[in-house]
Amino acid sequence: MDDDRHDVIELSRRYITQQAELGGSEFFFQNANRSLKGSFSSQQDVCFWEESLICRRCRLAQTRKHIVWGEGNRNASLMLVGEAPGREEDLQGKPFVGQAGRLLNNILKAIGFERKEVYITNILKCRPPENRDPLPDEIKSCLPILEDQILRIGPKVILTLGRYAGQTLLMTADPLNRLRGKFHDRGGIPCRVTYHPAALLRNPQWKRPVWEDVQALRILYDQIVGDKPPWSPHEK
Ligand code: URA
Repeated sequence: MDDDRHDVIELSRRYITQQAELGGSEFFFQNANRSLKGSFSSQQDVCFWEESLICRRCRLAQTRKHIVWGEGNRNASLMLVGEAPGREEDLQGKPFVGQAGRLLNNILKAIGFERKEVYITNILKCRPPENRDPLPDEIKSCLPILEDQILRIGPKVILTLGRYAGQTLLMTADPLNRLRGKFHDRGGIPCRVTYHPAALLRNPQWKRPVWEDVQALRILYDQIVGDKPPWSPHEK
């Protein structure tokens, strides 16, 4: 790491530590080229933010408006992992806030979760231009951030949304229709793979498999975590 970059990281770290100690919960940096915005809830999050704050690991740093870090409960037992921010997410700095996000909120509601109870993030933290597919080197650069999030949040169950999220987290090239319909062991964490809400908008015939996946997810969640009022499936 060159000296300049090291200085910037050190300054950012000190600034965020100071803000966390003062009880702040949000930060906002701006310079001529871009603005960076985020929030933290505890001292524990300080290192969590540090790298992403100035992340230049891949080409997407040149075109993104915001790093879409993730959102939700930092102690969530359920973590959702999508593909990459889209236009709306890039503008707002939050995951799943567009049309697919509204459908995702409804899917969560159907199995008795409020969005704020879970943690939602993506494989890529920055928007690929024109929403193109993530490239292998971008996934490789970004994955350590997701691994860190999984370690810090410690979900008991993971739901991946779409092909890229499922294949990346399970380290496989198997097609999504072979991955869905069962639980996978992802480093000791049960992981369910399902279709992406954006794909569901285009292919309504996938509604039933998604409903089967999320029902199974909720049933397993109750067995493992058991912190929610009784839930019973009803026809969707
Ligand atoms: N699609 C994703 O995969 N993630 C988002 O945050 C939004 C749309």
